[in-house]
Amino acid sequence: MQIIRASEMGFCFGVRRAVEMMEEAVRERGSLVSLGSVVHNPQVVDKLRREGLEVITDVAQAADQPVAITAHGVGPEVIDRLAESGVEVIDTTCPIVTRSQQWAKRLSEEGFAVVLFGDPNHKEVRGVKGWAKGHVLVVASEAEVGPLPEDFPSRVGVLSQTTETEARFAAFVKRLFEANMDRISELRVLNTLCHATTAQQAATMHLADEVSLMVVVGGRDSANTRHLAVVARECGAETYHIETADEIQPAWLAGHERVGVTAGASTPDFVIDQVVARLEELARAL
Ligand code: F3S
Repeated sequence: MQIIRASEMGFCFGVRRAVEMMEEAVRERGSLVSLGSVVHNPQVVDKLRREGLEVITDVAQAADQPVAITAHGVGPEVIDRLAESGVEVIDTTCPIVTRSQQWAKRLSEEGFAVVLFGDPNHKEVRGVKGWAKGHVLVVASEAEVGPLPEDFPSRVGVLSQTTETEARFAAFVKRLFEANMDRISELRVLNTLCHATTAQQAATMHLADEVSLMVVVGGRDSANTRHLAVVARECGAETYHIETADEIQPAWLAGHERVGVTAGASTPDFVIDQVVARLEELARAL
């Protein structure tokens, strides 16, 4: 049996940058709190906790400690509250997310309604939404597209959550326009997809075409890991989404000659290595 790694997987530059900034800040300052989980990966969060990072859920819990904004970013109201509290802020927002936030702000300032394609409960989406002043709507899927609210201006700007797939975003934009052609005078589409994510999705697709079993490694709350599992399944490979090597069931491997491994952008190398090592061990025992 062959165990094959996807050509692009694991930590993206935005997560690597955020984790390194937090590690450095903890080392230099002795204590640091992060506003929410650093990334959607429990293993990364646990490692940083051991190094001295505490996770808080509200600015009020910071006391006088320095506060890190995570890679997913926050809305302007959180920035204002942090400024008012006077604490030191370490902003690790991924530059790709910052770009989306700036687009949301600019579109509103130019009089566009903003339609945001993504999960309304995801931290990145909530943050970007906050930067769009005025008319803003978050829609989670193409199937949920309907007529835009009556009071929306006829100029509409569309952004996507950075980790969406190209195919889903394209289908969403098409549907939005078709469903509102009588109302929209101008449709401005900003390609806010993250290249690191689209490259990982392409590599996953390529690999899933070559194997019959795919193991996708990453946090269960990680949007981009979940999207990788969807992509792998759509290619026809039997697919399992796991967080750690312990979850692998030996029975999954029966009857498969080639097994692919891919991982989300918030999955650290050591977790991927443990998964590959476990699969190799099980393959030898077959
Ligand atoms: Fe940034 Fe893309 Fe990673 S948006 S955090 S580089 S998945």
